[in-house]
Formats: sequence, structure tokens, C-alpha cells
Amino acid sequence: MSASDRVPTEILDLARSARRVTVLTGAGMSAESGVPTFRDAQTGLWERFDPAELATPEAWEDDPAQCWAWYAWRASLVRRADPHPGHVALAQWQARPGIDLWISTQNVDDLHERAGAGVLAHVHGNLFALHCASCGAPADVDYPPITEPVARLDPPGCHQCGGPVRPGVVWFGETLPERAFQDSVEAVQEADLVLVVGTSGLVHPAASIPDFAGARGVPVVEINPRVSKVSGSVDHVWRAPAGQALPALVSALD
Ligand code: OAD
Repeated sequence: MSASDRVPTEILDLARSARRVTVLTGAGMSAESGVPTFRDAQTGLWERFDPAELATPEAWEDDPAQCWAWYAWRASLVRRADPHPGHVALAQWQARPGIDLWISTQNVDDLHERAGAGVLAHVHGNLFALHCASCGAPADVDYPPITEPVARLDPPGCHQCGGPVRPGVVWFGETLPERAFQDSVEAVQEADLVLVVGTSGLVHPAASIPDFAGARGVPVVEINPRVSKVSGSVDHVWRAPAGQALPALVSALD
């Protein structure tokens, strides 16, 4: 079977004619690299860990060492993971002449970048952009290398004010980085095609970004092996994992 046989015809037609493509990715994009999603049954992080204890400003205030230890473990998971063929396919599509392809991700990992893609926006921040929780100064420190989750690790101190260094992620209850959100909205509004890959569509305001495409009549395609909150409002649904669908789609462009 050729790559084009594996791609739904309407989706292939849209992808072949699009010159400006915006790809919105969520945790499912990283799943086949071995980075767990948040809400998949059995494997999702929020099945095993309580977000209220790890991913809120209150959790950080109460117990920064517990939060820091958890993010150190997640950072080590990401570092041991490699981009998969879906990440590589997006980077290849982005490099094609005459194509503008913008990636806006909810993921705090760096797998798109390590596949060679440029990322327009990390709407939920970046795990590795460490900064001081008190004065906001960027921190030139790193997570300790750990391979198993541990209960507590004291965060390092800021070199400017001595405050605790925190992960560069957006926690529940915090506002999204304004520039990243605005750039993502503009990217979907200006696109000829929007792909929504591997998100449950449950966390707002990031989950509302595809709606800006619909409002402008830009076609939206979901790539996700399972039904999500996004499925009902997109134009086409492709029930396939990102690591298979994206390489098939990009190989079939010619
Ligand atoms: P979720 O864990 O909520 O959803 C993951 C989605 O990926 C589900 O719809 C799965 O069906 C889908 N999926 C699983 N494997 C896949 C694969 N191989 N290919 C494609 N799709 C696959 O993750 P997000 O929607 O990204 O917030 O979660 C949104 C936010 O909630 C995260 O950014 C995080 C979390 O709390 C912050 O860190 C602020």
C-alpha cells in the first residue's frame, strides 16, 4: 500500500493544496516517544498523580520540593525520549519550499525542536525554561538527573535573589503566556489548513484555539486515535496515531 492510500482522500487534498498549515499539538503527539499523556486511561499522568498537588501555584507554595522532584522526573523522561517519525515528518513538511507551517504546542517537552522543527508557540510553557519563582530571573541551573520518581528534592536557589527556581510550565490557575496564545490564534486564522493532533481538548483556553479557525472557515482536521472534545467541531477526523498518520501524510504530499 502506498502512503497516499493510507491517507483519507479529503485530508490529502487539503494538505496538498495548503500553503499555510498550522499544527496544534497536545500530549498525544509525544506519546509514541514514550512521554506519557495526562488523561489516557491507564497510562495518563493524572491517573497516577494529583494535579492539585503538583501543578498549581498553591502546590508550589505548600511544598516546592515535592513539585520540583516531580518535574525533575518528567524532565528525565523527556531527555531519555527521542522524537518519533511524526515529529520528523512535521519538520520535513515545514522545510518544503513554498510552505509556511506553524507549530503551536501544549507540550512542555522539546521533541518538535529536536526533530528539527521550529515551534511558533509553547502555550503551556517549556519544562526547561527554568526561572526564579520569586524574581522571575532566568536560572542557569538544571534538574538533577533522576530515573525514578522521588518524593522530594529541594529546588536550587536563584543566583540573583536566592528564591526557589521553578519549572517554566504554566500551572492550573496561571495565565498563558500572552504572546504564545496570540501567535497561535493568528496562525490558525491565517492558515489554509489546521491540524489538531493528540489533544483531549479539555484544557482551556488552549482548547479554544481551533475555534478561531472554524470561525474563519479554515478547514480543521483532527488526528487522534480516540474521540476527543475537539472531534465534534472539526471538519475531518482521522483516527490514527500521530507517529503513523503524519509520516504517511507528508510522504503522500508529492
Ligand atoms: P491529554 O492527556 O488530555 O490528551 C491526550 C490526547 O492524545 C487524547 O485525546 C488521546 O486520545 C490522544 N492520543 C494518545 N495517543 C496518541 C497518539 N499516539 N497519537 C495521537 N493522539 C494520541 O493531553 P492534552 O490535551 O495535551 O497542561 O492535555 C492538555 C493539558 O493538560 C496539558 O498541556 C497539561 C495537562 O494538564 C499543563 O501542563 C498546563
